Amino acid sequence: MAGQIPQRFIDDLLGRVDVVEVVGERVQLKKAGRNYSGLCPFHQEKTPSFTVSADKQFYHCFGCGAHGNALRFLMEYDKLPFPEAVDQLAGRLGIDVPREGADDPRAQQREKKRKEGVNLLELAASFYRERLKMQEGQGAKQYLHTRGLTSDVIDAYGIGYAPGGWEALKHHLSERGISEPVQTEYGLLIHREDTGRTYDRFRDRVMFPIRDLRGRTIAFGGRVMGDDQPKYLNSPETPVFHKGRELYGLYEARQASSKLEQLVMVEGYMDVVALAQYGIHNAVATLGTATTEDHLSRLFRLVSRVVFCFDGDRAGRQAASRALETALPMMIDGREARFLFLPEGDDPDSLVRREGTEAFQDRVTCAMPLSEFLFEQAAQGRDLNTVEGRERFASQVLEALNKVPEGMLRSLMLEALAKRSGLAQEQLKGLLEKRVAAQARQQQARGEPAETADATVSQQSAAPASTRKAGRGQALSPVERIIQLLLHEPGLVTSLPEKDAWLPDSEGPQGDEVRLCQELLALLRAGRYRSPQVILAHFQGSAEGVQLAAFAQRELLIPRAARETELTGLVAHLSHVQQQQSPREEYEALLALERDGQKLDKRQRQRLASLVMELSQRQQ
Ligand code: UTP
Ligand code: MN
Repeated sequence: MAGQIPQRFIDDLLGRVDVVEVVGERVQLKKAGRNYSGLCPFHQEKTPSFTVSADKQFYHCFGCGAHGNALRFLMEYDKLPFPEAVDQLAGRLGIDVPREGADDPRAQQREKKRKEGVNLLELAASFYRERLKMQEGQGAKQYLHTRGLTSDVIDAYGIGYAPGGWEALKHHLSERGISEPVQTEYGLLIHREDTGRTYDRFRDRVMFPIRDLRGRTIAFGGRVMGDDQPKYLNSPETPVFHKGRELYGLYEARQASSKLEQLVMVEGYMDVVALAQYGIHNAVATLGTATTEDHLSRLFRLVSRVVFCFDGDRAGRQAASRALETALPMMIDGREARFLFLPEGDDPDSLVRREGTEAFQDRVTCAMPLSEFLFEQAAQGRDLNTVEGRERFASQVLEALNKVPEGMLRSLMLEALAKRSGLAQEQLKGLLEKRVAAQARQQQARGEPAETADATVSQQSAAPASTRKAGRGQALSPVERIIQLLLHEPGLVTSLPEKDAWLPDSEGPQGDEVRLCQELLALLRAGRYRSPQVILAHFQGSAEGVQLAAFAQRELLIPRAARETELTGLVAHLSHVQQQQSPREEYEALLALERDGQKLDKRQRQRLASLVMELSQRQQ
């Protein structure tokens, strides 16, 4: 695990980047006196109320209160988690992000190996690119052109050719001082245990480099040009490559547009590249695996809409319904997923070539919303003209809705379900709440943590002992429960009193949780932290972050409407407790004044006397 990023590095970084430049790449800014101004990217507006100050290195919107430095801007605008936003900024300056604990020799060793690996993969990528241009690559070049690829797109995706001999790359890398075990570790060389022989993994194949978000090659996919099997060969899992997380084309998509709004998930390398050639630069592909939660959480950090592309046949529909299952728990407010089914026998590559850019774009625009696909699935094979059929249908939809985090999508779908099933919305709601409660009871009985509502949230929690309470079914203290409510629904902060007099003493026995609550309140009041993810990103890497992640992971288990009531109730309760404590505190404060040699005035002396009375009565 990477350590925490040192604060002094972040301070230094912020001192070196220019917020005007970072914002200016994404928002059109005009110079206005000492500042710059433009239309606020965080809310809809017609006249500019968004300003960026070069002196203060801050942006501020007078319309919606959005406010922060370059790092905050990247987190909010590019929807990047904290460490990735730091990475981005550092990448602009061409510097690496240090991690705490980097002085430890083992960490240094790991870092050295990682660099060696990255370096080696870059060397391999340029080796393949060069070979494509040489005589031995002519066949591959011909193949790519027959498949309709232009030289531009071949360059943009860094496509190359792995020569046919057994040891071409091995010799090339060995001459450059890279040992065979390292070449093997990064998946370029195959080591036969039985004979002890080593040889190139990729031979006589067209090579697609797979790049990480910063453009560094981390793996390859290689396609045969004939009918050999397998058609595509991918790098194995290596220290830098995890199939279930990476997406082909993501780096290139981000390069092509600084303001991505949606991403289209396709199946193959060729689909991504062909779409790019036709001007559709926002396609990405999984690497021969089904869509995972990791894939989706990556995509949803970058864009709010993901369109899944599937074959129109049965296998395609099945893959789509698996993708739907994976997507459901991630559909927090503001995110959207759609499903595009292609005509049978086509893939995006063949389709865009036949129909052209516009027709393909139209298909993407008209892709089926997640809700529609879900209803369609539930209706399949059922006769909705019968009561029984409708009930089964409703039950299946509810089952799925149960996995969707509370929010707009869930309420809208309940509404739509009521219409379609003919069951009253109240009945459905009751049914849904009953299901949630039953599930929670079952989990509690088994001593398991409640199921997480949002997989991206759960990922970040490797809860140590101190946070076990938050993850289990144990009762939370009122302050902890307030933190949890606010975390799930940051908007509730507006229903709290302006002053935090209701909070217990931050130096008292509950000091830790009180301070965390204060910090959270300050962030929420400052305005821009509206989703659990962003809040968690803010605390990422700290002990509080782990604790908050555990709170986030635990479902609230109460309907949305009841949350505000619970929150204000908790605050009223705490205020009451505070007031009960305050006579003693007031009494002690007055005594302290007297002890310090200050003369109490008449009013204070009277108050002291009445407090003595009050306190002695209370003790009896
Ligand atoms: P397809 O067989 O649909 O190939 O596999 P394709 O993308 O249309 O490729 P072309 O057009 O024939 O060149 C889709 C994806 O599944 C993975 C690859 O990621 C491929 O792009 N795959 C397929 C493999 O990993 N290995 C294989 O042998 C085949
Ligand atoms: Mn194809």
